[in-house]
Amino acid sequence: MREHWTSRLGFILAALGSAIGLGTLWKFPYVTGDNGGGLFVVFYLFFTLFLGIPLFIGELILGRRAQRGAVGVFASLSGESSPWRTVGWFAVASSFLILSYYCVVAGWGLNYLMLSLNQMYELQTPLQISGIFKTLSHSGDISLFWSAIFLLMTMGVIYQGVRKGIELWSRILTISLLVLLVGLCAYSVTLEGFGAAVSFLFQPHLQTIKPSGIIEALGLSFFTLSLAQGIILTYGSYLKSSEDLPKTALIIGGMVVLVSMLTVLTIFPVIFTFNLPLEGGAGLIFETLPLLFKSLPGSMVLSTIFFTLFVFTALTSSMALLEVVVANLIDLHQWSRRKAVLYSTLAAFIVGIPSALAGSQDLFKDWLPMYGTNFFNTIDNLVSIWLLPLGGFFTALYIGWRLKKGLVKEEFLQGTTLGYLFTVWFFLIRWVAPFAVVLIFLQKGGFINLDKLISLKYT
Ligand code: PFF
Repeated sequence: MREHWTSRLGFILAALGSAIGLGTLWKFPYVTGDNGGGLFVVFYLFFTLFLGIPLFIGELILGRRAQRGAVGVFASLSGESSPWRTVGWFAVASSFLILSYYCVVAGWGLNYLMLSLNQMYELQTPLQISGIFKTLSHSGDISLFWSAIFLLMTMGVIYQGVRKGIELWSRILTISLLVLLVGLCAYSVTLEGFGAAVSFLFQPHLQTIKPSGIIEALGLSFFTLSLAQGIILTYGSYLKSSEDLPKTALIIGGMVVLVSMLTVLTIFPVIFTFNLPLEGGAGLIFETLPLLFKSLPGSMVLSTIFFTLFVFTALTSSMALLEVVVANLIDLHQWSRRKAVLYSTLAAFIVGIPSALAGSQDLFKDWLPMYGTNFFNTIDNLVSIWLLPLGGFFTALYIGWRLKKGLVKEEFLQGTTLGYLFTVWFFLIRWVAPFAVVLIFLQKGGFINLDKLISLKYT
């Protein structure tokens, strides 16, 4: 018999643990900065509400119905040799690629944890502190070292398959993170740059957003909700038929949005107060937060707590990423857990080496001039701009057009008190999600110009 979650809370916490991670804490702020705030945030919220959460429900439905992992879901619902299985493999590939650079960022978090404990706040000036990231990202060996340590931690957890331990830890850590973020955000509100930050973040003012920025908002929304990466499908398969799927998806989506908003509202006032560049790139959070800590009493303690939580939220997500790969190797090739965990961790480490060395340029020296961005960003773009939106597109097509509507409806209604939402949800999955993704790709490919069509341009 397939294992099921002990309780609904257990499932929500595990799914929340996977969803809230570096996407919300690290990626959301810097991608928002790079894309000029305002409109980008609006797009992110729009995509999350109208595409992300509906797809989240869709993945849960597929998983619960099929009771299999990412690839198995499509095999079980459409036949073992169905081409739809490719969608599952897409998801596994995305998870694997994300893991390869996710551990680099989480490793930087470990480095900052170590720095916090090593009197970084006593020995250096604020500018020196925010400059540490540059040294770190240019140091390939240190980045690689911490990334390996983090991967080993992830491997240790997944190797034991400790669902219970993780459920419990996720609960404590997610709540602590929220409390700390609310506290930090309350302080940021008092900073001089708060007003400027709010207007930058929430006013769709005098700016243009590039088509690639729109896809990035879509990709980011899927990334933060852990969609199109096989995880929600898999977690759905461990659910009992009495669960209320739409409600669960709304709770998780709401929490992810809340944490993203708290994070940017904490970080951007610091940027405006200290006149830091808005396009800080991947180092943004590591450059701004230490400045905030430095200006507060008990900086060392605050910073230590924050980076501990940072590493743990990264861990509850990276476990899920690794588990997607491992579960499919076990499921499809009958590998032992031990073998699957060892090989996938090793592979993620090897594929992650150029990402860890991206800043130092110790490897692939000509990558940057050739591709216009370093290896780390190239992989991240490949996933966020192509794989995740395409994965979401095919999942929506599958639910909206390939499966029988009766079956989908039955599974949606099973256990929910929100049955009246079915028509709207199905409409979004069948018509809005696939066509929105196609439109965005047409725009990106230069076939149409949405900016002109809907005069989206503000000058
Ligand atoms: N949602 C996670 C984040 O925002 O950091 C990333 C992620 C974790 C995606 C686990 C997928 C997954 F299976």
